[in-house]
Amino acid sequence: MSIDLSGKVALVTGAANGIGASVAKTLAAAGAAVIVTDLEGQSALAFDVVAEITASGGRAEFKILDISNEQNWISVMEYIKGCHEGLDVLVNNAGVVLVKPIAETTLEELRWISQVNIEGVFLGVKHAVPLMRARAKSNPAGASIINFSSAMGIKGYPFGSLYSMTKGAIRAFSKSVALEFAQLNYNIRVNSVHPGLVDTPMVEHEAEKLSALGAMGTSNAQEMRQAFKDMNPLGRLGTPQELANAVLFLASDLSSFITASEMIVDGGETAQ
Ligand SMILES: NC(=O)c1ccc[n+]([C@@H]2O[C@H](COP(=O)([O-])OP(=O)(O)OC[C@H]3O[C@@H](n4cnc5c(N)ncnc54)[C@H](O)[C@@H]3O)[C@@H](O)[C@H]2O)c1
Repeated sequence: MSIDLSGKVALVTGAANGIGASVAKTLAAAGAAVIVTDLEGQSALAFDVVAEITASGGRAEFKILDISNEQNWISVMEYIKGCHEGLDVLVNNAGVVLVKPIAETTLEELRWISQVNIEGVFLGVKHAVPLMRARAKSNPAGASIINFSSAMGIKGYPFGSLYSMTKGAIRAFSKSVALEFAQLNYNIRVNSVHPGLVDTPMVEHEAEKLSALGAMGTSNAQEMRQAFKDMNPLGRLGTPQELANAVLFLASDLSSFITASEMIVDGGETAQ
């Protein structure tokens, strides 16, 4: 059985790069009209994602959306209301990471990472609700919100405590919002996704920062990349496509009885 998202409208944040770009392409390949969003500075990469989708017959368009900016969310939702009338799928994928010893971390850094990883997800859910409720009324399987947390939202990892803090918040937020929407009969499902280490620019950044700190017994970025693979039960990093496959399922009507759940896509890392 192939997954069919025809007729659905999906918004993906941080879709110019890494996992978000794969998610946008995968949802579009399944038939969804995809709003590809990212920071203004990522416009060139985002237009490449849109071009790849449209070249293969899919539907996509780019909108600038800094997820920490409430006015940006309001403008994008107004646009979607005008052009598509509603929203079926929201993928809160965009996020930032900070790798630093806690004693050297500043309050400004906590505010920065919280503004993106926590406030950005809150704003997305809040402003998507009216458009998602409109669509959910006519679909028994409901609308679907997918919030990106992390393996680090479940387990602890040295030098990533602020990131873990924000990703743990997303796990708990997603469950509580899911239960609230169920009680209010909104017919909007909310789930969190928890990647392990996935081969993206974010992981490259982590390998460089951790090796500069001499973490995990090495100060060499290449060795750090190998250490990332060695600590995974499957002996490798995940691919963005493997994450996109999980999102595709949660976005589709096949996951209609799944809400308030956490989908762990980590090659077994958190089970160790
Ligand atoms: N790569 C991993 O190993 C991994 C592991 C666990 C969780 N995650 C989570 O998966 C998600 C995607 O990660 P990735 O590896 O693809 O990251 P990435 O750094 O490769 O890409 C993130 C994208 O988010 C965008 N972004 C950053 N700040 C933004 C903002 N304020 N507004 C809008 N867009 C913004 C960036 O421009 C970029 O395009 C993130 O939430 C991340 O925390 C990733």
